[in-house]
Amino acid sequence: MGGWRTGILIAILAAAAGFGAGYWRWGWPVDWYAGHDAAALPAGTDDPVRYGWQLVISTPEHIGRNAAAPAMRYAGNDLACTNCHLNAGRQAYAAPFISTFTSFPMISDDRYLTLADRINGCMTRSMNGRPLPGDSREMEAFIAYIRFVGQGSPSDIRIPGMGLRPLPAPKQAPDATRGRTVYAASCARCHGPEGAGSRLEPPRIGYAAPPLWGEDSFNAAAGMADMRIAAAFVRANMPFETTYDDPSLNDQQAWDVAAFVTTQPRPAGPQRTP
Ligand code: HEC
Ligand code: HEC
Repeated sequence: MGGWRTGILIAILAAAAGFGAGYWRWGWPVDWYAGHDAAALPAGTDDPVRYGWQLVISTPEHIGRNAAAPAMRYAGNDLACTNCHLNAGRQAYAAPFISTFTSFPMISDDRYLTLADRINGCMTRSMNGRPLPGDSREMEAFIAYIRFVGQGSPSDIRIPGMGLRPLPAPKQAPDATRGRTVYAASCARCHGPEGAGSRLEPPRIGYAAPPLWGEDSFNAAAGMADMRIAAAFVRANMPFETTYDDPSLNDQQAWDVAAFVTTQPRPAGPQRTP
């Protein structure tokens, strides 16, 4: 087969896989999600990228509500960033970090938002905690890591797979009662019958499966507390190890289970700043 034909075939496959724009723009379908694994960086140095990666995957041990140093307890729960930003921010349609560094600063709701502000958005909502100081070693490390995972990716577009995969509007109004049935069948075995998740073996701090509601969950102002966001996340990523191109629930089940989860009790959010 001629080179251009192979090229077209690859373009079609790439488009089907959701990476078409990468091909179109750059002449070859690059998988921006595959590179930049911080696990390959040498340990035992004070490399901010490596520390940032540790903060993303072992958040509660460093800055969680039960962290060893009381002054470092910035988060109000024991969630880890990677519980939602799957594979440490390197999974398509699981709110990845690939195009994040180059997306900031941005204007959002008429506010000028830096990357540090956005990280603190998750600190005060998803992590139910307080903001990290802008000049802290931790904030610098988060930013260094986020920059690292996007290195070399196009700087003027958000690559395909950023954010969450939009879900078509539900055919029937999302229903928490039907959602409870979906939850019992497809979620409770990991997240627990009461949504409390299951903790890692001590002395490790954090979760093998994170809580979805209750006092140690994300708060009511978090993105994940919004039914549309939860439905899109769950449809593409849950049960764990599902990927967007081979989903497990159908659209209606995702809407229904999201209606159930987002109407369960959780900590109140911070007051919205006007
Ligand atoms: C409970 C789930 C959850 C947790 C935990 C969480 N986040 Fe998020 N985060 C989200 C969601 C949802 C979004 C918005 C995704 C979208 O629609 O673009 C987001 C967006 C972001 C963004 C903006 C990304 C972009 O390119 O626009 C950053 C940066 C971020 N989070 C950092 C963090 C960090 C750092 C932590 C850990 C300290 C964290 N988040 C913990 C759910 C979470
Ligand atoms: C096989 C175990 C398993 C099953 C089944 C499962 N999950 Fe998860 N879920 C996880 C794990 C593990 C994570 C965190 C992923 C990580 O840290 O890499 C997670 C993360 C999440 C998150 C984001 C983190 C948070 O605290 O909110 C949501 C929302 C979620 N799951 C909802 C669901 C729903 C709804 C179902 C049922 C449709 C479900 N999950 C089924 C294991 C599971």
